[in-house]
Amino acid sequence: MMGSLLAVDKLSVRYGPVLALSDVNLTTSAGEIVTLLGSNGAGKSTLMRALIGLAIPSGGSISFNDEKIENMPVESRVALGIATVLEGRGMLPRMTVLENLQMGAYLRANDSLDEDFGKVFSTFPVLKERLKQLAGTLSGGEQQMLAFGRAMMLRPKLILMDEPSMGLAPVIVEKVFEAIESINRAGTSVLLIEQNARMALSIAHRFYVLSVGSIVLAGKVSGEKLLVERTDGRVDEISEEELEAAYLEGS
Ligand SMILES: Nc1ncnc2c1ncn2[C@@H]1O[C@H](COP(=O)(O)OP(=O)(O)OP(=O)(O)O)[C@@H](O)[C@H]1O
Ligand SMILES: [Mg+2]
Repeated sequence: MMGSLLAVDKLSVRYGPVLALSDVNLTTSAGEIVTLLGSNGAGKSTLMRALIGLAIPSGGSISFNDEKIENMPVESRVALGIATVLEGRGMLPRMTVLENLQMGAYLRANDSLDEDFGKVFSTFPVLKERLKQLAGTLSGGEQQMLAFGRAMMLRPKLILMDEPSMGLAPVIVEKVFEAIESINRAGTSVLLIEQNARMALSIAHRFYVLSVGSIVLAGKVSGEKLLVERTDGRVDEISEEELEAAYLEGS
């Protein structure tokens, strides 16, 4: 779609005989938080990997700022301003917290790193205390915060987050969600993958539900209401329970 920051059109991904994603259409506009909900095995991480260049599509296209990116290598997509917080986090385990954070900024002008470090440390003070520690020795939750911090260092236009709340204590989950809202207010678009629908919908502008590789519902969040856009253009309000039922289908 013209004018979208990210536009995914009929994207399919196969793993051998398994069709993990089938004709997925999805957009993210500048300034939006869009959440992609779905149960285990729905294809959420596969979509994220295809968007950043870690999974090869078998069909369809991905545009970023109206430029086709589905054949670009990962670094080129990062250089365009797409950052990721992936499942498994992808930190460099033998490098320190400080080095991992510096890596996050290596594809952009490094003029004002101090300001970015300031933002990361005010969001996640524990990282400041552990700057010289090797990333591989951080706890799971600390690694998750480091992955988020590293993504912030890129000053991305779009940040892709794969279940950022996974494995984190509730108070840290709250911090992560506040941090997502805060980088979004500062102008970064967010595509947020979550199984915690309630939490994700509390900050999202729009949502998609993925079930067994297909988008089965899409809509927007309007105050307390979830408004589903049907294929014929009708808009229906649905409850959170109905939405959860839609994504539990097929799991
Ligand atoms: N490298 C791979 N080879 C073969 N099959 C794969 C591979 N990666 C994922 N799959 C399969 O593709 C489907 C989608 O997996 P994916 O990891 O995208 O799901 P997900 O929605 O992220 O699930 P979860 O919520 O558990 O993280 C699953 O059935 C999975 O087993
Ligand atoms: Mg996943």
